[in-house]
Amino acid sequence: MLIVGARPQIIKSAPIIHEAKKHREIELQLVHTGQHYDFEMSKIFFHEMELPDPIVNLGVGSGSHAWQTGNMMIKLEKTIIEHKPAIVMVPGDTNSTLAGALTAAKLHVPVVHIEAGARSYDMRMPEEINRRLTDHCSSLLFVPTKNCAKNLSNEGIPKQRIKLSGDTMYDALLQHLPIAAKSNILKILSLKSDKYAALTLHRPENVDDPKTLKNIMKALTMLTELTIVFPVHPRTREGLAAAKLLKRLEVADDIKLIEPLGYHDMLQLTKHARMVFTDSGGLQKEAFWLHTPCITLRDKTEWTETTELGANLLVGTNLKRIVETTKEILKTKDIKIKLEKLKNPFGDGQASRKIIAETLKRR
Ligand code: UD1
Repeated sequence: MLIVGARPQIIKSAPIIHEAKKHREIELQLVHTGQHYDFEMSKIFFHEMELPDPIVNLGVGSGSHAWQTGNMMIKLEKTIIEHKPAIVMVPGDTNSTLAGALTAAKLHVPVVHIEAGARSYDMRMPEEINRRLTDHCSSLLFVPTKNCAKNLSNEGIPKQRIKLSGDTMYDALLQHLPIAAKSNILKILSLKSDKYAALTLHRPENVDDPKTLKNIMKALTMLTELTIVFPVHPRTREGLAAAKLLKRLEVADDIKLIEPLGYHDMLQLTKHARMVFTDSGGLQKEAFWLHTPCITLRDKTEWTETTELGANLLVGTNLKRIVETTKEILKTKDIKIKLEKLKNPFGDGQASRKIIAETLKRR
């Protein structure tokens, strides 16, 4: 049973689902918790990545963390008891990941964690709590990088449970780039390659606090050298409205607020951007793979591989640092050519094949 619920989990799982379909001995039970429920946040990825319908959508929706995680657990318990999976697989670090892992472990069903071992060492992030607890109740942990394996060893997780697979998000990106290249999102938004920046924001610590959000948006609107394209996450739309920023930004010249994009359009937008501003985990890695400089609007990152290589700059939410770092990047010549030469620590695009093969061995 593979449990998904939020946008990045669908992307991470797609290559695993397609790999599993190649094996007759696997009966895949795909379960959707309903954490994300809009077309733009869920269904579109099922279409684009040609995924089968889930056997069940638990329809949990939004709520406080305890409410959401608790409701997922109650519904997942029934689902697991009814469908009797041999193992439960959970990708990433969302509330759906934690709910799936805890419920399965308590029913003594072995848990397999995909993208295990990532650590930001920032316990204010709900995702950090989710991934730590999930790792510690998993029987088999697939890590995307050597650094993630080291993090798990440091926490005392036995070596035989940890397997270096590479990152399934990289598998997904390689599989979908040829289709993404046909996207006409640049034309639709009247953008020229390398003349704009892409922005995504959705972390509660950035978007739920009006002061922080105002600061970030003020810094970004000062950067008149670039048009900023901003696909707005539903949570962020609420935050912008609460901070009384939404109306002003909607009519601003240098910033284009748009609905959340599908996977192919987002890859195309990232690939051709002069740079990316984000607080997302996944986009930091996608920018790295697409050789686009990334400015991360957080104080810490779980993807230190990208910061150590100089491809990703952590600037937090300080106005001066955001502006100065951006200007530095704009001054750097041939930056994309430099980024292309970096070694990729996230595997060889075959993570899903390794995950399925190793999981079958452990039956
Ligand atoms: C969640 C994950 C995060 C992941 C992100 C990707 C947790 C704790 N966080 O954060 O790890 O990177 O998803 O998007 O699990 N909403 C809609 N329509 C939808 C989906 C969401 O309107 O289809 C709104 C909800 O009303 C709510 C917000 O978006 O305001 C979702 O909040 P939450 O459940 O915390 O998820 P994310 O912030 O998306």
